[in-house]
Amino acid sequence: MRFRLVAAALITAGASVFAVATPTAAAGTAYTGILPAPVSVRVERGAFTIDRHTTISAGPGADGVAGYLAGLLRRSTGYPLPIVRGPGDIALTVTGGSSEGYQLDVSSRAVTISAERAAGLFAGVQTLRQLVPVTRPWTVPAGHVSDAPRFGHRGAMLDVARHFFTVAQVERYIDQLAQYKINVLHLHLADDQGWRIMINSWPRLATYGGSTAVGGDPGGYYTQAQYREIVAYAASRYITVVPEIDMPGHVNAALASYPELNCDGVAPPLYTGTDVGFSSLCVGKEVTYRFLDDVIRELAALTLGPYLHIGGDEAHATSQADYVAFMNRVQGIVAAHGKRVLAWHQVVSATPRPTTLAQYWDTTNDNPQVAAAAANGTGVVLSPANLAYLDMKYDPATPLGQDWAGLVEVSDAYGWDPGTYLVGAPPAAIRGVEAPLWTETIRTSADIEYMAFPRLPAIAELGWSPAATHDWPAFRRRLAAQAPRWRAQGINFYPSPQIPWPA
Ligand code: ACM
Repeated sequence: MRFRLVAAALITAGASVFAVATPTAAAGTAYTGILPAPVSVRVERGAFTIDRHTTISAGPGADGVAGYLAGLLRRSTGYPLPIVRGPGDIALTVTGGSSEGYQLDVSSRAVTISAERAAGLFAGVQTLRQLVPVTRPWTVPAGHVSDAPRFGHRGAMLDVARHFFTVAQVERYIDQLAQYKINVLHLHLADDQGWRIMINSWPRLATYGGSTAVGGDPGGYYTQAQYREIVAYAASRYITVVPEIDMPGHVNAALASYPELNCDGVAPPLYTGTDVGFSSLCVGKEVTYRFLDDVIRELAALTLGPYLHIGGDEAHATSQADYVAFMNRVQGIVAAHGKRVLAWHQVVSATPRPTTLAQYWDTTNDNPQVAAAAANGTGVVLSPANLAYLDMKYDPATPLGQDWAGLVEVSDAYGWDPGTYLVGAPPAAIRGVEAPLWTETIRTSADIEYMAFPRLPAIAELGWSPAATHDWPAFRRRLAAQAPRWRAQGINFYPSPQIPWPA
């Protein structure tokens, strides 16, 4: 095969170098199709072909990622791909350090991925996957990728309270998220319509409070063993689960389960509608804090990462004075159990602890109270509802979802810069992005996928890629390049008319 250099390097100022030197059309397409866009790419001459003799080698600390890669490649190619000690054709190396970045080199003789941490190696494996064709021959064009994330928090949220999703459904979503270098899965585990995690010291939360869902659909809950399985599965994909128990509002399922949690001592009925803002924990009762201490203790013991999410949004049935007292006290309970607080951005109207992160879900980029908190040291995760909410409809004809924050087409989801979005917030306060999927109208994995794809990859790219790579025409092509993979994986994506999907 002969190769020709058909494009020149585009060098941007600073750390980002995006070189597009294209030995062949196919090679160029492979590297420019990587999503999220890497920091830098150099296409070279030649290609590596995976065949029945290809081996994978794992250096110290790389066994888990090597096993994962071997599993993927065996499934697509049918080749044995043994993992060997000593030199292998596809070599994975962990060098030690703290970066989540990686270096990927493909030559005609070998593929090497090296990273300081296994998490970076895993990210590099996701890049390699996108360079391997969907069908044989399994030829990977030669080149070099140097890459590292822009933000440390690249999240997706799944609301398992409005509708319940099984362990298998959550794991399916985890695998989809991992492909786009998402590293946080926020699970919204309790709301008015359902409590979805067994708390051993308050079992009726799950057995009664979890017994239904929006529209009277079947409920469900995770046993602690099942929840640990989700956490471990996510960890094997370098994704940290952040559990959310929303409070002091969004608590009807808890109030219905235990009369003593109500100020009047009377349990309300279970709720299967979709209103918000009508329930509140009883801020003045001590049992409320014994209850929360138990819940947070059990949840902390199930949580590998540093953060517990305590909600704090739409507390319309709680007075502001009560809200402040409550949020400040509960932050202390979380800290007493060795964890840090994530909360929706209303937490800044209380007194955020220095380690508390605020998740911004407003629909305007101008919120002086949140900007002031950010300037004062509160870290912010950005989920603007009119840009990052995956449950918003794409257009008026979208059969699922809501439109209270607006219609969100792919160009909207992609068309903002997290680094400059929030007026007055210092760039260092922005810890990342998250794409929440609320599930009032979402009942199946096919529904999840229709709303998440293709907007989830857009938010994932905003979280991973340098601002210098932001480019709508190029992003449209990167997204289009994913479609054959989604089809092969059975992902039910929305074929947005904005994207030049291949036939
Ligand atoms: C929210 O959408 N209430 C966080």
